[in-house]
Amino acid sequence: MKKTFFVSTPIYYPSGNLHIGHTYTTTLADVMARYKKENFYEVFFLTGSDEHGQKIEQKAKENNITPKEYVNEVVETFKDLWNKLDINYDRFIRTTDEDHIIAVQKIFSFLLKKDLIYLSEYKGKYCISCEEFLTFEQMDKDFVHNVCKNVATDFQEETYMLRVSKFQKYLQDLFKTNFLVPESRKNEMLNSFINTGLEDLSVTRVSFSWGIPVLENPKHIVYVWIDALSNYITALGFGSDNTELLEKFWSEDGEILQIVGKEITRFHSIYWPILLNSLNLKTPNKLLSHGWIISGGNKMSKSLGNVIDPIELLKSYSSDAVRFYIINNLPTDRDGEWTEELFIESFNTNLANNVGNLISRVSNMIIKYFNGKLNTKLLDKNHYLVRMGLETIEKYKKLMDNYEMNAAIKEVLKLAQECNKFIEETKPWNLEKEDKLEELNETLLILQKNILIVSYLLKPILTKSYENMILQMGVNPEKVNFDSLTNNKIDFETISKKLVLFERIKK
Ligand code: MSP
Repeated sequence: MKKTFFVSTPIYYPSGNLHIGHTYTTTLADVMARYKKENFYEVFFLTGSDEHGQKIEQKAKENNITPKEYVNEVVETFKDLWNKLDINYDRFIRTTDEDHIIAVQKIFSFLLKKDLIYLSEYKGKYCISCEEFLTFEQMDKDFVHNVCKNVATDFQEETYMLRVSKFQKYLQDLFKTNFLVPESRKNEMLNSFINTGLEDLSVTRVSFSWGIPVLENPKHIVYVWIDALSNYITALGFGSDNTELLEKFWSEDGEILQIVGKEITRFHSIYWPILLNSLNLKTPNKLLSHGWIISGGNKMSKSLGNVIDPIELLKSYSSDAVRFYIINNLPTDRDGEWTEELFIESFNTNLANNVGNLISRVSNMIIKYFNGKLNTKLLDKNHYLVRMGLETIEKYKKLMDNYEMNAAIKEVLKLAQECNKFIEETKPWNLEKEDKLEELNETLLILQKNILIVSYLLKPILTKSYENMILQMGVNPEKVNFDSLTNNKIDFETISKKLVLFERIKK
Protein backbone atom coordinates (compact mmCIF):
# COMPACT_ATOMS: atom_id res chain seq x y z
CA MET A 1 0.00 0.00 0.00
CA LYS A 2 1.17 3.52 -0.80
CA LYS A 3 2.24 5.79 2.05
CA THR A 4 -0.07 8.74 2.58
CA PHE A 5 0.61 12.40 3.21
CA PHE A 6 -1.94 14.98 4.28
CA VAL A 7 -1.03 18.65 4.24
CA SER A 8 -3.19 21.65 5.04
CA THR A 9 -3.09 25.43 5.09
CA PRO A 10 -5.27 27.52 7.37
CA ILE A 11 -8.60 28.31 5.78
CA TYR A 12 -8.46 32.03 5.12
CA TYR A 13 -11.07 34.64 5.99
CA PRO A 14 -12.79 36.08 2.95
CA SER A 15 -13.00 39.44 4.72
CA GLY A 16 -10.92 40.88 1.90
CA ASN A 17 -8.57 39.76 -0.83
CA LEU A 18 -5.64 37.53 -0.05
CA HIS A 19 -2.18 39.03 0.18
CA ILE A 20 1.33 37.72 -0.08
CA GLY A 21 1.26 36.44 3.54
CA HIS A 22 -1.46 33.92 2.68
CA THR A 23 0.40 33.05 -0.50
CA TYR A 24 3.38 32.18 1.66
CA THR A 25 1.67 29.41 3.66
CA THR A 26 -0.12 28.00 0.65
CA THR A 27 3.05 27.82 -1.41
CA LEU A 28 4.89 25.99 1.37
CA ALA A 29 2.10 23.43 1.46
CA ASP A 30 2.01 23.06 -2.31
CA VAL A 31 5.76 22.50 -2.53
CA MET A 32 5.62 19.84 0.18
CA ALA A 33 2.68 18.13 -1.56
CA ARG A 34 4.54 18.04 -4.86
CA TYR A 35 7.72 16.76 -3.24
CA LYS A 36 5.84 13.93 -1.55
CA LYS A 37 4.27 12.93 -4.85
CA GLU A 38 7.75 12.60 -6.32
CA ASN A 39 8.40 10.20 -3.45
CA PHE A 40 5.38 8.11 -4.42
CA TYR A 41 3.17 9.18 -1.56
CA GLU A 42 -0.54 9.40 -2.04
CA VAL A 43 -1.19 13.03 -1.20
CA PHE A 44 -4.15 15.03 0.00
CA PHE A 45 -3.64 18.78 0.01
CA LEU A 46 -6.37 20.79 1.69
CA THR A 47 -7.05 24.51 1.66
CA GLY A 48 -10.18 26.61 1.79
CA SER A 49 -12.06 29.53 3.26
CA ASP A 50 -13.31 30.37 6.75
CA GLU A 51 -16.56 32.09 5.96
CA HIS A 52 -18.50 32.55 9.19
CA GLY A 53 -18.19 35.02 12.02
CA GLN A 54 -18.94 38.52 13.09
CA LYS A 55 -16.40 40.20 10.85
CA ILE A 56 -17.80 38.67 7.67
CA GLU A 57 -21.32 39.58 8.80
CA GLN A 58 -20.18 43.19 9.24
CA LYS A 59 -18.44 43.28 5.87
CA ALA A 60 -21.54 42.02 4.09
CA LYS A 61 -23.66 44.66 5.82
CA GLU A 62 -21.23 47.39 4.71
CA ASN A 63 -21.66 46.16 1.15
CA ASN A 64 -25.46 45.85 1.42
CA ILE A 65 -25.46 42.20 0.46
CA THR A 66 -26.05 38.95 2.32
CA PRO A 67 -23.05 37.27 3.92
CA LYS A 68 -23.34 34.36 1.52
CA GLU A 69 -23.37 36.67 -1.52
CA TYR A 70 -20.38 38.47 -0.08
CA VAL A 71 -18.27 35.35 0.52
CA ASN A 72 -19.20 33.82 -2.82
CA GLU A 73 -17.57 36.73 -4.59
CA VAL A 74 -14.41 36.78 -2.51
CA VAL A 75 -13.90 33.04 -2.64
CA GLU A 76 -13.73 33.21 -6.43
CA THR A 77 -10.73 35.53 -6.11
CA PHE A 78 -9.06 33.00 -3.78
CA LYS A 79 -9.44 30.23 -6.33
CA ASP A 80 -8.26 32.50 -9.11
CA LEU A 81 -5.10 33.33 -7.15
CA TRP A 82 -4.32 29.69 -6.42
CA ASN A 83 -4.81 28.87 -10.05
CA LYS A 84 -2.44 31.62 -11.16
CA LEU A 85 0.15 30.45 -8.65
CA ASP A 86 -0.12 26.84 -9.80
CA ILE A 87 -1.41 25.63 -6.44
CA ASN A 88 -2.59 22.09 -6.85
CA TYR A 89 -4.98 21.37 -3.96
CA ASP A 90 -7.25 18.35 -3.67
CA ARG A 91 -10.14 20.04 -1.95
CA PHE A 92 -11.09 23.63 -1.38
CA ILE A 93 -13.33 23.46 1.66
CA ARG A 94 -15.72 26.27 2.46
CA THR A 95 -17.15 26.39 5.96
CA THR A 96 -20.50 27.11 4.31
CA ASP A 97 -20.38 23.72 2.55
CA GLU A 98 -23.36 21.62 3.58
CA ASP A 99 -21.30 18.57 4.61
CA HIS A 100 -19.09 20.73 6.82
CA ILE A 101 -22.05 22.37 8.59
CA ILE A 102 -23.69 19.05 9.40
CA ALA A 103 -20.43 17.58 10.66
CA VAL A 104 -19.67 20.58 12.90
CA GLN A 105 -23.10 20.26 14.51
CA LYS A 106 -22.40 16.59 15.14
CA ILE A 107 -19.02 17.39 16.69
CA PHE A 108 -20.62 19.95 18.98
CA SER A 109 -23.39 17.57 20.05
CA PHE A 110 -20.86 14.86 20.74
CA LEU A 111 -18.76 17.11 22.98
CA LEU A 112 -21.87 18.34 24.75
CA LYS A 113 -22.96 14.78 25.46
CA LYS A 114 -19.52 13.93 26.80
CA ASP A 115 -19.81 16.94 29.12
CA LEU A 116 -16.69 18.48 27.59
CA ILE A 117 -18.87 21.49 26.78
CA TYR A 118 -21.13 23.18 29.37
CA LEU A 119 -23.41 26.23 29.49
CA SER A 120 -22.10 29.28 31.31
CA GLU A 121 -21.61 33.05 31.19
CA TYR A 122 -18.43 34.67 29.88
CA LYS A 123 -17.03 38.14 30.30
CA GLY A 124 -13.89 39.41 28.62
CA LYS A 125 -12.32 41.13 25.63
CA TYR A 126 -12.83 40.04 22.05
CA CYS A 127 -10.99 40.93 18.83
CA ILE A 128 -13.51 40.84 15.99
CA SER A 129 -10.83 41.17 13.33
CA CYS A 130 -9.07 38.01 14.54
CA GLU A 131 -12.25 36.42 15.99
CA GLU A 132 -10.27 35.77 19.14
CA PHE A 133 -10.88 36.08 22.91
CA LEU A 134 -7.90 37.98 24.27
CA THR A 135 -5.91 37.75 27.47
CA PHE A 136 -4.48 40.94 28.95
CA GLU A 137 -1.01 39.99 27.75
CA GLN A 138 -2.27 40.22 24.17
CA MET A 139 -3.35 43.88 24.45
CA ASP A 140 -1.83 47.20 25.44
CA LYS A 141 -3.35 49.49 28.09
CA ASP A 142 -5.90 50.82 25.58
CA PHE A 143 -7.00 47.27 24.71
CA VAL A 144 -5.33 47.37 21.32
CA HIS A 145 -4.61 43.82 20.09
CA ASN A 146 -0.87 43.41 19.57
CA VAL A 147 -1.27 41.40 16.35
CA CYS A 148 -3.77 43.34 14.22
CA LYS A 149 -3.75 46.66 16.15
CA ASN A 150 -7.53 46.79 16.38
CA VAL A 151 -9.25 47.74 19.63
CA ALA A 152 -10.83 44.75 21.37
CA THR A 153 -14.51 44.98 22.27
CA ASP A 154 -16.22 44.09 25.54
CA PHE A 155 -17.85 40.78 25.57
CA GLN A 156 -20.38 39.44 28.03
CA GLU A 157 -22.73 36.71 26.94
CA GLU A 158 -24.36 33.47 27.87
CA THR A 159 -22.08 30.95 26.23
CA TYR A 160 -21.09 27.33 26.09
CA MET A 161 -17.58 26.66 27.37
CA LEU A 162 -15.10 23.96 26.38
CA ARG A 163 -13.31 22.32 29.31
CA VAL A 164 -9.83 23.24 28.13
CA SER A 165 -8.47 23.34 31.68
CA LYS A 166 -8.99 19.58 31.99
CA PHE A 167 -6.37 18.99 29.32
CA GLN A 168 -3.31 20.59 30.87
CA LYS A 169 -1.50 17.33 31.55
CA TYR A 170 -2.41 16.02 28.11
CA LEU A 171 -0.95 19.10 26.46
CA GLN A 172 2.19 19.05 28.58
CA ASP A 173 2.81 15.50 27.44
CA LEU A 174 2.07 16.35 23.85
CA PHE A 175 4.54 19.22 23.98
CA LYS A 176 7.28 16.84 25.08
CA THR A 177 7.16 15.43 21.55
CA ASN A 178 8.36 17.35 18.53
CA PHE A 179 4.85 17.93 17.29
CA LEU A 180 5.25 21.71 17.10
CA VAL A 181 8.14 23.46 15.38
CA PRO A 182 10.03 25.70 15.76
CA GLU A 183 11.20 25.19 19.32
CA SER A 184 10.79 28.88 20.16
CA ARG A 185 7.06 28.71 19.46
CA LYS A 186 6.76 25.59 21.52
CA ASN A 187 8.27 27.36 24.52
CA GLU A 188 6.04 30.37 23.97
CA MET A 189 2.92 28.20 24.08
CA LEU A 190 4.10 26.39 27.19
CA ASN A 191 5.11 29.55 29.03
CA SER A 192 2.25 31.82 28.00
CA PHE A 193 -0.65 29.40 28.05
CA ILE A 194 -0.18 25.76 28.94
CA ASN A 195 1.91 25.96 32.10
CA THR A 196 0.39 29.17 33.41
CA GLY A 197 -3.21 28.21 33.86
CA LEU A 198 -5.30 27.10 30.95
CA GLU A 199 -8.72 28.67 30.89
CA ASP A 200 -11.86 27.11 29.50
CA LEU A 201 -12.76 28.50 26.10
CA SER A 202 -16.02 30.14 25.10
CA VAL A 203 -17.26 28.14 22.11
CA THR A 204 -20.56 29.78 21.15
CA ARG A 205 -21.84 33.31 20.52
CA VAL A 206 -25.38 34.69 20.77
CA SER A 207 -24.96 38.29 19.61
CA PHE A 208 -24.85 37.64 15.87
CA SER A 209 -26.21 35.00 13.56
CA TRP A 210 -23.83 34.33 10.64
CA GLY A 211 -22.57 30.91 11.58
CA ILE A 212 -23.52 27.35 12.40
CA PRO A 213 -26.34 27.10 14.98
CA VAL A 214 -26.04 24.69 17.89
CA LEU A 215 -28.74 22.07 17.27
CA GLU A 216 -29.61 21.76 20.96
CA ASN A 217 -29.95 25.54 21.45
CA PRO A 218 -30.12 27.37 18.11
CA LYS A 219 -29.80 30.92 19.43
CA HIS A 220 -26.16 29.91 20.02
CA ILE A 221 -23.79 30.02 17.06
CA VAL A 222 -20.71 27.77 17.14
CA TYR A 223 -17.60 29.88 17.76
CA VAL A 224 -15.90 30.51 14.44
CA TRP A 225 -12.66 28.83 15.54
CA ILE A 226 -14.36 25.55 16.48
CA ASP A 227 -16.17 25.70 13.15
CA ALA A 228 -12.90 26.49 11.34
CA LEU A 229 -10.56 23.99 13.00
CA SER A 230 -13.01 21.19 12.29
CA ASN A 231 -12.53 21.76 8.56
CA TYR A 232 -9.39 19.64 8.55
CA ILE A 233 -11.40 16.51 9.31
CA THR A 234 -14.81 17.37 7.89
CA ALA A 235 -13.07 17.86 4.54
CA LEU A 236 -12.09 14.19 4.72
CA GLY A 237 -15.62 13.07 5.55
CA PHE A 238 -15.69 13.11 9.35
CA GLY A 239 -19.32 13.14 10.45
CA SER A 240 -20.58 12.00 7.04
CA ASP A 241 -21.59 8.63 5.61
CA ASN A 242 -18.38 8.34 3.65
CA THR A 243 -15.28 8.27 5.83
CA GLU A 244 -12.99 6.58 3.33
CA LEU A 245 -10.68 9.58 2.94
CA LEU A 246 -10.54 10.10 6.68
CA GLU A 247 -9.51 6.53 7.30
CA LYS A 248 -6.90 6.78 4.61
CA PHE A 249 -5.33 10.16 5.35
CA TRP A 250 -6.03 10.78 9.04
CA SER A 251 -4.69 7.40 10.07
CA GLU A 252 -2.07 6.25 12.54
CA ASP A 253 0.36 5.34 9.76
CA GLY A 254 -0.37 8.38 7.64
CA GLU A 255 1.82 11.47 7.75
CA ILE A 256 -0.05 14.66 8.64
CA LEU A 257 1.52 18.10 8.30
CA GLN A 258 -0.33 21.29 9.13
CA ILE A 259 1.18 24.64 8.24
CA VAL A 260 0.05 27.86 9.92
CA GLY A 261 1.31 31.36 10.64
CA LYS A 262 2.56 32.05 14.14
CA GLU A 263 -0.41 34.19 15.26
CA ILE A 264 -2.77 31.23 15.07
CA THR A 265 -0.42 28.68 16.64
CA ARG A 266 -2.34 28.87 19.90
CA PHE A 267 -5.49 27.59 18.22
CA HIS A 268 -3.68 24.84 16.35
CA SER A 269 -1.42 23.63 19.12
CA ILE A 270 -3.82 23.87 22.08
CA TYR A 271 -7.50 23.82 21.10
CA TRP A 272 -7.12 21.67 18.01
CA PRO A 273 -5.31 18.75 19.74
CA ILE A 274 -7.93 18.93 22.49
CA LEU A 275 -10.72 18.59 19.95
CA LEU A 276 -8.95 15.74 18.20
CA ASN A 277 -8.24 13.94 21.43
CA SER A 278 -11.89 14.29 22.48
CA LEU A 279 -12.97 12.82 19.16
CA ASN A 280 -10.49 9.94 19.48
CA LEU A 281 -8.50 11.08 16.48
CA LYS A 282 -4.76 11.30 16.23
CA THR A 283 -2.78 14.53 16.60
CA PRO A 284 -0.99 15.69 13.45
CA ASN A 285 2.60 14.50 13.17
CA LYS A 286 3.79 18.04 12.73
CA LEU A 287 2.50 21.55 13.13
CA LEU A 288 4.81 23.90 11.28
CA SER A 289 4.33 27.41 12.56
CA HIS A 290 6.04 29.95 10.36
CA GLY A 291 6.94 33.59 10.91
CA TRP A 292 5.38 36.64 9.35
CA ILE A 293 6.09 38.59 6.26
CA ILE A 294 6.92 41.99 7.60
CA SER A 295 6.46 45.25 5.79
CA GLY A 296 7.53 48.57 7.26
CA GLY A 297 8.26 46.88 10.59
CA ASN A 298 4.76 45.40 10.99
CA LYS A 299 3.03 42.17 10.10
CA MET A 300 1.69 42.53 6.60
CA SER A 301 -2.07 42.45 7.04
CA LYS A 302 -5.31 43.67 5.57
CA SER A 303 -6.24 45.58 8.69
CA LEU A 304 -2.92 47.44 8.74
CA GLY A 305 -3.19 48.28 5.06
CA ASN A 306 0.44 47.46 4.25
CA VAL A 307 -0.14 44.52 1.94
CA ILE A 308 1.29 43.36 -1.34
CA ASP A 309 -1.33 42.01 -3.69
CA PRO A 310 -0.12 38.77 -5.27
CA ILE A 311 -2.53 39.13 -8.21
CA GLU A 312 -0.85 42.41 -9.11
CA LEU A 313 2.57 40.84 -8.63
CA LEU A 314 1.68 37.98 -10.94
CA LYS A 315 0.87 40.44 -13.71
CA SER A 316 4.55 41.40 -13.86
CA TYR A 317 6.31 38.25 -12.71
CA SER A 318 5.96 34.52 -13.26
CA SER A 319 4.46 32.21 -10.69
CA ASP A 320 7.81 30.42 -10.56
CA ALA A 321 9.53 33.64 -9.54
CA VAL A 322 7.06 34.18 -6.70
CA ARG A 323 7.21 30.56 -5.56
CA PHE A 324 10.99 30.67 -5.66
CA TYR A 325 11.22 33.80 -3.52
CA ILE A 326 8.93 32.28 -0.92
CA ILE A 327 10.94 29.11 -0.52
CA ASN A 328 14.38 30.62 -0.92
CA ASN A 329 14.06 33.94 0.87
CA LEU A 330 11.63 33.29 3.68
CA PRO A 331 12.95 30.74 6.18
CA THR A 332 9.98 29.52 8.20
CA ASP A 333 11.55 29.83 11.64
CA ARG A 334 11.68 33.63 11.62
CA ASP A 335 9.99 36.68 10.15
CA GLY A 336 10.92 37.65 6.61
CA GLU A 337 10.92 40.74 4.42
CA TRP A 338 9.19 41.18 1.12
CA THR A 339 10.34 44.08 -1.03
CA GLU A 340 10.38 44.30 -4.77
CA GLU A 341 14.12 44.98 -4.75
CA LEU A 342 14.91 41.86 -2.76
CA PHE A 343 12.57 39.91 -4.98
CA ILE A 344 14.28 41.02 -8.20
CA GLU A 345 17.74 40.60 -6.76
CA SER A 346 17.02 37.07 -5.60
CA PHE A 347 15.61 36.08 -8.97
CA ASN A 348 18.52 37.54 -10.90
CA THR A 349 21.23 36.14 -8.65
CA ASN A 350 19.85 32.66 -8.19
CA LEU A 351 17.74 31.85 -11.21
CA ALA A 352 19.06 34.06 -14.01
CA ASN A 353 22.77 34.10 -13.12
CA ASN A 354 23.31 30.85 -11.27
CA VAL A 355 20.89 28.17 -12.52
CA GLY A 356 19.80 29.71 -15.83
CA ASN A 357 23.27 30.63 -16.87
CA LEU A 358 24.57 27.17 -16.04
CA ILE A 359 21.93 25.48 -18.16
CA SER A 360 22.41 27.75 -21.13
CA ARG A 361 26.22 27.56 -21.08
CA VAL A 362 26.25 23.79 -20.88
CA SER A 363 23.58 23.20 -23.48
CA ASN A 364 25.27 25.66 -25.84
CA MET A 365 28.58 23.83 -25.50
CA ILE A 366 27.01 20.41 -26.02
CA ILE A 367 25.36 21.71 -29.18
CA LYS A 368 28.46 23.52 -30.43
CA TYR A 369 31.10 20.88 -29.72
CA PHE A 370 29.13 17.63 -29.96
CA ASN A 371 26.14 18.44 -32.15
CA GLY A 372 23.87 18.17 -29.11
CA LYS A 373 24.77 14.68 -27.92
CA LEU A 374 27.54 13.46 -25.63
CA ASN A 375 28.98 10.00 -25.35
CA THR A 376 27.41 8.96 -22.03
CA LYS A 377 29.82 6.08 -21.51
CA LEU A 378 32.51 8.55 -20.56
CA LEU A 379 31.21 9.30 -17.06
CA ASP A 380 33.81 9.57 -14.33
CA LYS A 381 31.81 8.22 -11.40
CA ASN A 382 34.49 9.16 -8.91
CA HIS A 383 34.64 12.79 -9.91
CA TYR A 384 34.02 15.08 -6.93
CA LEU A 385 31.14 16.82 -8.69
CA VAL A 386 29.42 13.55 -9.55
CA ARG A 387 29.66 12.57 -5.90
CA MET A 388 28.47 15.99 -4.84
CA GLY A 389 25.43 15.66 -7.10
CA LEU A 390 24.41 12.40 -5.42
CA GLU A 391 25.12 13.78 -1.97
CA THR A 392 22.97 16.80 -2.73
CA ILE A 393 20.04 14.51 -3.48
CA GLU A 394 20.49 12.81 -0.13
CA LYS A 395 20.81 16.03 1.83
CA TYR A 396 17.86 17.56 0.03
CA LYS A 397 15.64 14.59 0.79
CA LYS A 398 16.60 14.57 4.44
CA LEU A 399 15.83 18.27 4.79
CA MET A 400 12.57 18.06 2.84
CA ASP A 401 11.48 15.08 4.91
CA ASN A 402 11.99 17.34 7.87
CA TYR A 403 9.98 20.11 6.14
CA GLU A 404 13.05 22.34 5.94
CA MET A 405 12.35 23.60 2.45
CA ASN A 406 14.53 26.67 2.75
CA ALA A 407 17.61 24.73 3.79
CA ALA A 408 16.93 22.13 1.09
CA ILE A 409 16.87 24.65 -1.73
CA LYS A 410 20.14 26.15 -0.49
CA GLU A 411 21.81 22.78 -1.08
CA VAL A 412 20.52 22.74 -4.64
CA LEU A 413 21.74 26.25 -5.37
CA LYS A 414 25.11 25.36 -3.90
CA LEU A 415 25.43 22.48 -6.36
CA ALA A 416 24.63 24.81 -9.26
CA GLN A 417 27.24 27.25 -8.01
CA GLU A 418 29.86 24.54 -7.79
CA CYS A 419 29.10 23.56 -11.37
CA ASN A 420 29.56 27.15 -12.54
CA LYS A 421 32.82 27.30 -10.64
CA PHE A 422 33.93 24.07 -12.28
CA ILE A 423 33.29 25.61 -15.71
CA GLU A 424 35.40 28.63 -14.81
CA GLU A 425 38.20 26.35 -13.66
CA THR A 426 38.22 23.76 -16.42
CA LYS A 427 37.53 26.24 -19.24
CA PRO A 428 35.94 23.69 -21.60
CA TRP A 429 36.42 26.06 -24.56
CA ASN A 430 40.19 25.61 -24.19
CA LEU A 431 39.86 21.83 -24.15
CA GLU A 432 38.26 22.09 -27.55
CA LYS A 433 41.04 24.28 -28.88
CA GLU A 434 43.60 21.80 -27.54
CA ASP A 435 41.65 19.00 -29.20
CA LYS A 436 41.10 17.17 -25.88
CA LEU A 437 37.68 16.00 -26.96
CA GLU A 438 37.39 13.07 -24.61
CA GLU A 439 38.12 15.26 -21.61
CA LEU A 440 35.70 17.84 -22.92
CA ASN A 441 32.99 15.20 -23.24
CA GLU A 442 33.65 14.01 -19.67
CA THR A 443 33.49 17.54 -18.34
CA LEU A 444 30.24 18.39 -20.06
CA LEU A 445 28.68 15.07 -19.09
CA ILE A 446 29.33 15.73 -15.42
CA LEU A 447 27.66 19.09 -15.81
CA GLN A 448 24.76 17.72 -17.80
CA LYS A 449 24.01 15.13 -15.12
CA ASN A 450 24.17 17.68 -12.35
CA ILE A 451 21.88 20.04 -14.21
CA LEU A 452 19.30 17.28 -14.28
CA ILE A 453 19.68 16.92 -10.52
CA VAL A 454 19.42 20.66 -9.91
CA SER A 455 16.35 20.92 -12.14
CA TYR A 456 14.61 17.91 -10.67
CA LEU A 457 15.13 19.08 -7.10
CA LEU A 458 13.63 22.43 -8.05
CA LYS A 459 10.63 20.77 -9.71
CA PRO A 460 8.24 21.19 -6.74
CA ILE A 461 8.97 24.93 -6.80
CA LEU A 462 9.52 25.82 -10.46
CA THR A 463 6.42 24.13 -11.78
CA LYS A 464 6.27 26.14 -15.00
CA SER A 465 9.97 26.19 -15.96
CA TYR A 466 10.80 22.63 -14.98
CA GLU A 467 9.92 21.03 -18.27
CA ASN A 468 12.06 23.41 -20.31
CA MET A 469 14.99 23.00 -17.94
CA ILE A 470 14.99 19.27 -18.55
CA LEU A 471 14.26 19.52 -22.28
CA GLN A 472 17.23 21.82 -22.56
CA MET A 473 19.37 18.86 -21.49
CA GLY A 474 17.89 16.64 -24.19
CA VAL A 475 15.94 14.51 -21.73
CA ASN A 476 12.28 13.51 -21.51
CA PRO A 477 11.00 15.21 -18.31
CA GLU A 478 8.77 12.24 -17.53
CA LYS A 479 11.74 9.92 -17.28
CA VAL A 480 13.45 11.90 -14.55
CA ASN A 481 12.88 10.78 -10.96
CA PHE A 482 14.88 9.98 -7.84
CA ASP A 483 15.50 6.44 -9.02
CA SER A 484 16.62 7.24 -12.57
CA LEU A 485 18.87 10.04 -11.35
CA THR A 486 20.66 8.07 -8.67
CA ASN A 487 20.97 4.88 -10.69
CA ASN A 488 22.08 6.36 -13.99
CA LYS A 489 18.98 5.31 -15.86
CA ILE A 490 18.55 8.37 -18.05
CA ASP A 491 18.46 8.40 -21.85
CA PHE A 492 19.85 11.51 -23.45
CA GLU A 493 18.50 12.62 -26.82
CA THR A 494 20.12 15.16 -29.08
CA ILE A 495 19.70 18.71 -27.80
CA SER A 496 18.57 20.93 -30.59
CA LYS A 497 16.58 23.89 -29.39
CA LYS A 498 17.94 26.76 -27.37
CA LEU A 499 15.28 27.83 -24.91
CA VAL A 500 15.33 31.00 -22.88
CA LEU A 501 15.06 30.28 -19.20
CA PHE A 502 14.90 32.86 -16.41
CA GLU A 503 15.47 36.03 -18.33
CA ARG A 504 17.04 38.67 -16.08
CA ILE A 505 14.52 41.07 -14.60
CA LYS A 506 15.46 44.67 -15.29
CA LYS A 507 14.98 46.99 -12.36
N1 MSP B 1 -9.48 31.89 9.37
C1 MSP B 1 -8.36 31.84 10.22
C2 MSP B 1 -7.67 30.50 10.14
C3 MSP B 1 -8.50 29.32 10.46
S1 MSP B 1 -7.64 27.83 10.24
C4 MSP B 1 -8.60 26.66 10.94
C5 MSP B 1 -7.38 32.93 9.84
N2 MSP B 1 -7.49 33.42 8.60
S2 MSP B 1 -6.58 34.56 7.99
O1 MSP B 1 -7.19 34.90 6.72
O2 MSP B 1 -6.38 35.62 8.91
O3 MSP B 1 -5.21 33.87 7.65
C6 MSP B 1 -4.20 33.73 8.60
C7 MSP B 1 -3.05 33.00 7.96
O4 MSP B 1 -2.58 33.72 6.81
C8 MSP B 1 -1.82 32.89 8.85
O5 MSP B 1 -1.85 31.79 9.68
C9 MSP B 1 -0.75 32.73 7.82
O6 MSP B 1 -0.81 31.44 7.33
C10 MSP B 1 -1.19 33.68 6.73
N3 MSP B 1 -0.70 35.04 6.93
C11 MSP B 1 -1.45 36.17 7.00
N4 MSP B 1 -0.64 37.24 7.11
C12 MSP B 1 0.64 36.85 7.10
C13 MSP B 1 1.88 37.50 7.10
N5 MSP B 1 2.00 38.80 7.14
N6 MSP B 1 2.98 36.72 7.03
C14 MSP B 1 2.91 35.37 6.94
N7 MSP B 1 1.76 34.73 6.94
C15 MSP B 1 0.61 35.44 7.06
O7 MSP B 1 -6.54 33.27 10.65
